[in-house]
Amino acid sequence: MEKVGILVVSYGSREVAMVDAFSRSKNYSAEIYVADKQRNPFNLQKAKEHAVVPNLDVQEICRFAKKHEDKIDFGIVGPEKPIIDGIRDVIESETRIPMICPTKKYAIEGSKVAQRVLFQKVVPEANPKFKVFDPKDYSSLGKVKKDVEAWLDELNNSVAVKPDSPAAGKGVGVWGDHFTTRQQLFEHFLSNYEHGPVIVEEKIEGEESSFQAFCDGKHLVSLPETRDYKRAFDDDKGPNTGGMGSYKGKGDFLPFMTRADREKEIEIVNKLFKELRGKGNNHELRGIPFYDAFIHTGKGPKLLENNSRPGDPEIQNLLPILKDDFVEVCFKILDGSLTRVEFEENATVVTYKAPPAYGDYAEVFPERVDLRQTRKPVDLSQAYKLTEKHGDRIRVYPASMELRDKETYALGSRAVCVVGIGDTVQEARGISLEGLRAIKGGSLWHRTDIASREHIEKSIRHMERLRTQ
Ligand code: GLY
Repeated sequence: MEKVGILVVSYGSREVAMVDAFSRSKNYSAEIYVADKQRNPFNLQKAKEHAVVPNLDVQEICRFAKKHEDKIDFGIVGPEKPIIDGIRDVIESETRIPMICPTKKYAIEGSKVAQRVLFQKVVPEANPKFKVFDPKDYSSLGKVKKDVEAWLDELNNSVAVKPDSPAAGKGVGVWGDHFTTRQQLFEHFLSNYEHGPVIVEEKIEGEESSFQAFCDGKHLVSLPETRDYKRAFDDDKGPNTGGMGSYKGKGDFLPFMTRADREKEIEIVNKLFKELRGKGNNHELRGIPFYDAFIHTGKGPKLLENNSRPGDPEIQNLLPILKDDFVEVCFKILDGSLTRVEFEENATVVTYKAPPAYGDYAEVFPERVDLRQTRKPVDLSQAYKLTEKHGDRIRVYPASMELRDKETYALGSRAVCVVGIGDTVQEARGISLEGLRAIKGGSLWHRTDIASREHIEKSIRHMERLRTQ
């Protein structure tokens, strides 16, 4: 088999899913060079070379790439920080390694204000009403407060407050969910405003979905839709997180969506793509420049935000069921010939386990946390053993975990996810939960309602109600 050297810039289990997909290539023998946030046990086992770059510093990752330049055919980047910091520009100017991720110029995830302005120009029908409050425009807090008050009067308080810069979902506050008084709203507003511009936008009622697409600079290839669960606790309670789990139905859209919703999303993202691409080809966009969070209303989808990278955990719903060879998909992205990809006709469910300090869990549910366990190793072996029963239909992907003295420990963020693959969402969910139950130690916790029948039916009923209003 032909050898291929691949650089993977890794944050957690999203990139473990990439490493897994490369390792399973049927046509290439993948030698993987991982620049990792931590000593991820999965990546350490699969990598030819592994380096820990805790803050994912672009220059340090570039030095690692340069050291192995002769053996690396291309690189791929999952996390937003190095993409926004211009990792592609730096590595491509200092080595001959082509990178799969947008350049700094096209990492539009870097500014929510710039995104809203772009959406307003290109797809105004999908853009909620918004105003930007920029510290540069105000001489005092009193003045900005007065303008925010006037905007809240106009929108009847029904708003979402978002920082301009990415905050991994954690800076966003929504009226009715995260605050119910103007005083609470201002506290949230000010905690963001002290760092830069803040958007106050119309709150949209609806159901969320995640749209992702591969891009080779010339073509945009839409991937099947997934649903992310952002809130920490069951019934969509608690603070926002990076995502506690996600599901994908059997087809390419979700049970609460219509085919028309899906087609409208594809139309919206294609308009954005064509605006940024210009005429012909713009290789600076290659990678996943459009991972869009949509909210479905009775009158069609609206854009919540655009990310310039794969979703975590949403890409874990897709890579394990990609029918095409992922190495070949990457080569096509690099040479501008990716016109389609195929997926198995399966449903998938991803559920994360997190440590007690994540998502305020230990504060809200102290009675459920066994403090003696928190510093103990986590045992993944029984979860891996479930492949004897489920074969390839279960994947155990460590995220914020490190290997130390031959033991695996959970660190501060989402620790490990289990992907279940099934003929139905409920079958996939059963496998994912079985995998989670087999993970012992660390006092890890998880949401119990990811992709539950009740949660999905609630979304379907909600959309039915919205469509008839
Ligand atoms: N699932 C949320 C994110 O990747 O930003």
